[in-house]
Amino acid sequence: MTLEQRITNMLKVLATDDIVRLLQDTSSPVLIIIILWSILLATLAAVFFARRSKITPPPWPVVAGARPFIGNSLESIESLGAQLDIWAKMYDNEKGIFEFQLFGTRFIVPCRAETLELIMNERPFQIQRNSKLNDAIASVGGDGLFSAEGETWKSDRRLVAPALNRKNVEDYLSMINMVTGRLVEKWESETVQGGRHVVVNRDVLSMTMDIISLVAFGKDMDFLRAQGSVPVGPDLLKLMNITMMRSLSPFPYWNIPWIGQYLDGAGWPKHRLLRYFSSLVKQHESLAEEASAAASKDNHKSRTFLSKVIALRRRGNTTMSHDRLVGNLFTLFAAGSETTHVTICSCLWEIATDTTGLQDELASEAQRMKNMEKASVEELLNGFPRIRSLMYEILRIKGPTPFLGFQCKDEFSICGTKLPPSTKLMVPTRYISMQSGQTPSGPLNASASEFCARRYLLIDRGE
Ligand code: HEM
Repeated sequence: MTLEQRITNMLKVLATDDIVRLLQDTSSPVLIIIILWSILLATLAAVFFARRSKITPPPWPVVAGARPFIGNSLESIESLGAQLDIWAKMYDNEKGIFEFQLFGTRFIVPCRAETLELIMNERPFQIQRNSKLNDAIASVGGDGLFSAEGETWKSDRRLVAPALNRKNVEDYLSMINMVTGRLVEKWESETVQGGRHVVVNRDVLSMTMDIISLVAFGKDMDFLRAQGSVPVGPDLLKLMNITMMRSLSPFPYWNIPWIGQYLDGAGWPKHRLLRYFSSLVKQHESLAEEASAAASKDNHKSRTFLSKVIALRRRGNTTMSHDRLVGNLFTLFAAGSETTHVTICSCLWEIATDTTGLQDELASEAQRMKNMEKASVEELLNGFPRIRSLMYEILRIKGPTPFLGFQCKDEFSICGTKLPPSTKLMVPTRYISMQSGQTPSGPLNASASEFCARRYLLIDRGE
């Protein structure tokens, strides 16, 4: 007898009359609750198996061992990237696609460059970001460019992108220099004063948040020297972890009236951050009013991201609402701080554990730059090929985004199989870049699966 038949029989046995009699016979509320839960679970399982039996088996491998409701096992939400790599190694065959289940959702994984191309060619119209991730980001307050699609994305991008173009980034360099200078001073004084170690992770995260605060809204938070006293950093990190958890939840429990936002602890940090970002937007708006009343063209704040966006808005280039501007500020903070932090920490780890003289090479390259403080964006981008090569390699296989989540908008055909609208896709970018043929081997002829800090040095220019 199949499992589905057994469940159907069980439901028949528990016919309504029997349930009523059972409930009348028993005086224990615990037993009643157990019976009700069993009925609910049996019904859900019956529906689940009935639905699954209608789906014809896919022409590609399916990760084994999926359990009802939970799907395939995962050690923790944070380990999803590592787990994807393991599954990709196990299930990658000539199809270049496999699938797995997580909390009732089916995920299709294109794990070869050829299948990835089929997906990326359809961005951003047919293939869009995972709507569950978008909803989760919006639910914690980050309703901005990162989680937008279609017309909203276009209109947000018109506003946000110019403020991050090369000419405007030039304006941010002095702020970046100031904060990195503080980090160097701090680490120098800690080591000169006899300490043999510095806590890299905490300081680098403080540095990235200090830079974004200055660049985004001209506020010198100085997390680097006043650690722990400002709640923005821990609040943001907490919300980012909760976002990942929410994006995998089978239903949006955070929409339950009154208590939903607090069930996973997101409620208070979200309110604190939104209040904070909202007050910053208001401050900048009134500064812009005053500046225009005084016909003053430039002041200190006009060089920040927020003031550039507000200026664009005042010129009528966009009609972005106050709430959306707050969401975009939040987005910038969340998208920029943790990603850069992980990238820099991974670079420092590689430099510290390297045994091939990498640290000396990077130091002498940095010393060759005569006047770092006055260097232009162009000089900074092209003047450090060795540092750039290290960063590219870190981003390739040790970076903060080892996979990307998408979904198809309408029905989508891949490898001769039709995927229904809204099917979720997970792209293991790290795994794909580690396949041979996807990555230059560089002057040391490194294989794609190994880490090589010099991979992106150009051989013919002798860099
Ligand atoms: C090493 C650092 C970074 C990495 C690895 C990284 C990675 C990414 C990735 C993978 C995406 C999604 C692309 C997609 O879904 O198609 C993205 C989008 C985005 N990132 Fe970053 N990012 C980094 C730094 C930053 C910084 C510093 C900022 C701003 C201060 C930023 C702001 C954004 C924004 C606004 C988007 C949405 C862009 C759009 O949809 O048009 N990121 N980033």
